[in-house]
Parts: sequence; structure tokens; C-alpha cells
Amino acid sequence: MEKNNKLIELKNIVVEFDGERVIDDMSLYIGDGEFVTLLGCSGCGKTTTLRVIAGFIQPQSGEVFFDSKNINGVPPYKRSVNTIFQRYALFPNYNVYDNIAFGLRVNKVPEKEIEQRVSEMLKLVNLQGFEKRSITKLSGGQQQRVAIARAVINRPKVLLLDEPLAALDLKLRKDMQKELKNIQRQLGITFIYVTHDQEEALSMSDTVVVMHEGKIQQIGKPVDIYNEPKNAFVADFIGESNIIDGVMEDDFKVKLDGKSFECLDKGFAKGEPVDVVIRPEDVDIVPAGQGMLRGVIKSVTFRGVHFEILIDVQDFMWMIQTTDEYKEGQEVDLKIDPDAIHIMKKSKYSGQFGDYSTYSDEMDALSEITEEDEE
Ligand SMILES: Nc1ncnc2c1ncn2[C@@H]1O[C@H](COP(=O)(O)OP(=O)(O)O)[C@@H](O)[C@H]1O
Ligand SMILES: [Mg+2]
Repeated sequence: MEKNNKLIELKNIVVEFDGERVIDDMSLYIGDGEFVTLLGCSGCGKTTTLRVIAGFIQPQSGEVFFDSKNINGVPPYKRSVNTIFQRYALFPNYNVYDNIAFGLRVNKVPEKEIEQRVSEMLKLVNLQGFEKRSITKLSGGQQQRVAIARAVINRPKVLLLDEPLAALDLKLRKDMQKELKNIQRQLGITFIYVTHDQEEALSMSDTVVVMHEGKIQQIGKPVDIYNEPKNAFVADFIGESNIIDGVMEDDFKVKLDGKSFECLDKGFAKGEPVDVVIRPEDVDIVPAGQGMLRGVIKSVTFRGVHFEILIDVQDFMWMIQTTDEYKEGQEVDLKIDPDAIHIMKKSKYSGQFGDYSTYSDEMDALSEITEEDEE
């Protein structure tokens, strides 16, 4: 089958509620069979984007294309799109079989064919033998599988999934992530997946769309989003990042903290101020005198696989992850190789992220909130 690399296209979409812009000039295309994830904090416009694609919201301006045809005026039920919501509304009075068969019955598919297709679906989601089971007697994970089977049985071209795993506990969520990915591969259906969980987005998707305040910040493969964030917002949002003010001295040469560092980036103006991203796992701690920057270890936290170490370098707090243990108060040097450095253009997010000086306070505040919740 010929792959259409623009199965869905959004062009300059604007959505406003009560005069407030919640989707701000969004343009994006999604390929046939692709697993695309919209990733962003609560309120950034992910659900609204899905509703535009499904046809439940008419944008103030902009166009939605399906297979290169403008579908702005096409009602939801005529779009080849199904949605799975976080609260997957299964029919509690129906058993598993009747829930999965529902869409086909609405479309008056012959009962013989329904039987065969429901049986295929049960196999797909690993629920053979559960046909007669009441929905209320299923676990959360099993209900999730029924919801998936029900959503894909009428073979939509596109499945929209709005935080479908958010209600499940961590272990089950990880299992379902793998299963969803497998189901998507087997069926070849395009998945547009919404989550606020960066790890989930990175591990499941072909393409990740990072959103913030109704705007796309970056579109890319998970590895590229992680290794080459476009601005300080993305660098901070995806994983941990030290983000330091720098100045490009020349191609492949950046100055930070008064020292020149070799890097792999070029194409910036000489003397251009930039944001320099250095990931915590890419910095080596070496004895004082043997590295490029001198610092003092402020805190050491054991995180299981590694230690998380905060180091004060000229009043900027770096985070470093290492499997070696160090002592608080120890003076050390940082060693940074050229491929550990990633240069970004200055943006409106510059200076807001990437210094861990307030990190411990934030952690304390967070754990206080959690403790209050548990009372
Ligand atoms: N029907 C609505 N009426 C008014 N405001 C809305 C409506 N739906 C969403 N919003 C607002 O639009 C913004 C984006 O919402 P949403 O797309 O649900 O975000 P997300 O799914 O990323 O959490 C939020 O500020 C939300 O309060
Ligand atoms: Mg939402």
C-alpha cells in the first residue's frame, strides 16, 4: 500500500474560547500509519486539538485536511476517526462481546460477520474467553482493552487517544503502553495520542509534538527531541537539563563561565548569545584541577541507578548524574566533551529554566503537598 505522508494536515488552526486563544496558529501533518503524540502540560490545548481533528470543534480559522481534502465542514460521524477518552465510557449493562460489537450493530453489519470480527478483536487485545463477562467484573486494564477493541473494530483510519492510560497505576500503564504500540503496529492504524507524561511520549511514538500555551514548540522523533531541543522550554520539559548562558565565539566554539569549549554546533553569528544545554548524564566529575570548571558539591541524592549530584559552579547549580558516590562539600571539576554540548538560539524561555538552585526547595514543596494529600 502506498504510504500517504500527509493523511491529516492542520493548517494555521486557531481556536478561541471566550476570546481567549487556546490554539494559536497550529500547523502539523500526520502520516498514514504514524504514531504521533501530542505532549504538554495540562491546559496547553491537547484535547482541543483532538476535538478539532474529530470535528467536535470548529476552529475560528485554519483548515483541517484529510487525505488532502478540506474537511472543515464534515461532521464527526462522517470522519474516519474514532476516539478513546481517559474515561472510556463502556456500557456497564452490556457484556464484553456486546460492548465490542456495538459499533458494527449500529452500522447494521450482519451478525455472522460481527461474530468473526469480535473474535479477531478479542484475540488482538488478549481477552479471548471473556465474551460473556460483565464489564463491571473487569479490572481497569481489562476495561481499557475492551475500549480499544471497541474503538478499532470498525477499522477507522485514525484513532485519537486522549490520555487513555492516565487512570492506571504505573506498572499496568507500562504494560499497556507496550500493548498499545503492538496493536498499532499490527493494525497499521494512525494513532494520535495525547499525554502529559514525557516518558510515555518518548517510548511509544514515531513523532512527538511538544506543545505549550496552545503553540507547537517542537516536532520531531523522540531521540531528536531529547538530543536537540529547539529551545529552553523543550530542553527543560523533556528530561533534566543544565541550561547555561553562552556566547558563540566561532563555529564549533562556545564560551561559558569565562571558558572556551569545543562543540559540534555551527552556523551562529560570531559573538551571538546562546543557550547551552548540557544533560546531567553527559558531565564527568573529575578531581579539582583536571577539568574545565571548578565547583563545590552541594547535595548528593541516591536515585537507584545513579546518584543525583548538585554542584555549585559560580553561583549556578548544575545537576549531574553519575554512578560514583561523592561527598557534600567536596571541591571537584567538571569535564564536558564536545558532543555533550548542544547549542540553542535564545528564545522567550531563556533564563527561565536550567538552573537547579531552587530544585531542593521545589522538591520539599512537592513532598509537602503530597503528604497533605495523603492525610
Ligand atoms: N469548552 C471550553 N470552554 C472554555 N474553555 C475551554 C473549553 N475547553 C477547553 N478550554 C480551555 O482551553 C485550554 C486548553 O484546554 P485543553 O485542550 O483541554 O488542554 P489539555 O488537554 O492540553 O489539558 C484550557 O485553558 C481550557 O481551560
Ligand atoms: Mg486534555
